[in-house]
Amino acid sequence: MSDYEAMRRAADAAIAYRRGIAGAETTPVADYAAMLAAFAGPVPQTGGEADAIIAELIGKATPGIRASTGPRFFGWVIGNSHPTGVAADWLTSAWGQNGGNLIAAPAASAVEKVAADWLLDLLGLPGEASVGFVTGATVANFVCLAAARSEVLARAGWDVEADGMFGAPPIEVVIGADAHATVYSGLKYLGLGAKRVKIVPADTSGRMIASEFERVVKTCTGPVIAIAQAGQINTGACDPFAEIAPIATAAGAWLHVDGAFGLWAQAAPARAHLTAGVEAADSWATDGHKWLQTPYDCGFAIVRNAEAHRRAMAISASYLPPAEGSERDPSAYVPELSRRARGFATWAMIRQLGREGIAHMVECHCQIARHMGERLADEAGIELIAPVELNQLMVRFGGRDDATLATVKRVQDDEIAFIGPALWRGNWVMRVSVTSIATTMAEADVAVDAVIDAWRTIRG
Ligand SMILES: Cc1ncc(COP(=O)(O)O)c(C=O)c1O
Repeated sequence: MSDYEAMRRAADAAIAYRRGIAGAETTPVADYAAMLAAFAGPVPQTGGEADAIIAELIGKATPGIRASTGPRFFGWVIGNSHPTGVAADWLTSAWGQNGGNLIAAPAASAVEKVAADWLLDLLGLPGEASVGFVTGATVANFVCLAAARSEVLARAGWDVEADGMFGAPPIEVVIGADAHATVYSGLKYLGLGAKRVKIVPADTSGRMIASEFERVVKTCTGPVIAIAQAGQINTGACDPFAEIAPIATAAGAWLHVDGAFGLWAQAAPARAHLTAGVEAADSWATDGHKWLQTPYDCGFAIVRNAEAHRRAMAISASYLPPAEGSERDPSAYVPELSRRARGFATWAMIRQLGREGIAHMVECHCQIARHMGERLADEAGIELIAPVELNQLMVRFGGRDDATLATVKRVQDDEIAFIGPALWRGNWVMRVSVTSIATTMAEADVAVDAVIDAWRTIRG
């Protein structure tokens, strides 16, 4: 049998899996220990036959596949890996293109350029900004902060790419109290220090308070990087960009926005007021694998000052083609040289949904989240922790941690919907994320019924 038959087997299995999951409950999932037991064994002494290997992989892995593409999956912030994006991603693998340069991968480089322009248009960001196609918002934050570090130090007369951080003018980092953990990772990677930050107090939804932002920025003396966010992971709250961006500009600060999912409010006219003014920032991190529904992994590092972006990331070597004239060199905006050509899946998903489809999906998710919050808050003993503006919501049960965690566990064990816990201001909550295009209002209602049933059982 030819090796190519393995590809057909994989495609058939994938299609059958996705057809099943579309109508399914969250299906029981084998745990990590069971999966280790299934896969463990010594290094195979001899090779095998492609089709049999893929059949074995399907057989062993399927019981441990979490149904995160199903319609009642509300855990973390996870998109649907839409079939169109997956199909484009299959081709990306099959074509085996190295997305690192224009000569090695002409189609991949061109599609990235087009998808980059489409993203800037959809997200209402400046047309001159550069876009790096990375693994996700974690790396996008890192790349944007690397460009920020380069530029604020260059303005202070320091070449960080050449001379590193030892002896550099100290950078002051200003950040909201409810920023995402991955922004701190970026600070850590860049030698900026996760603890060397000035924290701006936030309101009860996790939104930076503009007057506090101004007060903290005014205490800074050296080069400043300010970090805001569109879409707080627990509440969905967006910082008041229209107020803070002019303050950052007046202080000569670089303003970065972590918009892993929330930046997509920009693509939905009925929600764009939530991110008003965000286009005045200097850099933005966002994901494809969340609200754009691309398969993993896919994120975008967007920088207004393309020169700073290239300074921080570009790689040159004698054997690599020089970027021709004004042509976009895909590796100049990311930390890797050889890499997956993520432009194909991004292009395919924007082509699939179109401007109207994206706006409609984002708006539907926001309406579903609000509806779920209202229904849950109507039940005695369930408290909605913050107003629902976007797609994230938090509820707490009986005003107690143990009752809340027990309800989350009960919901997960009932296998009708998947929803996870989170800590918010020292208290455990159930956090619901409506991010999958598979989720409809009817499916959300089934999930709400399951949560209320679970809570009634716990409450007794
Ligand atoms: C606000 C925010 N920033 C950054 C991230 C990290 O994104 P990723 O996991 O795609 O790297 C997330 C993930 O949920 C997020 O919600």
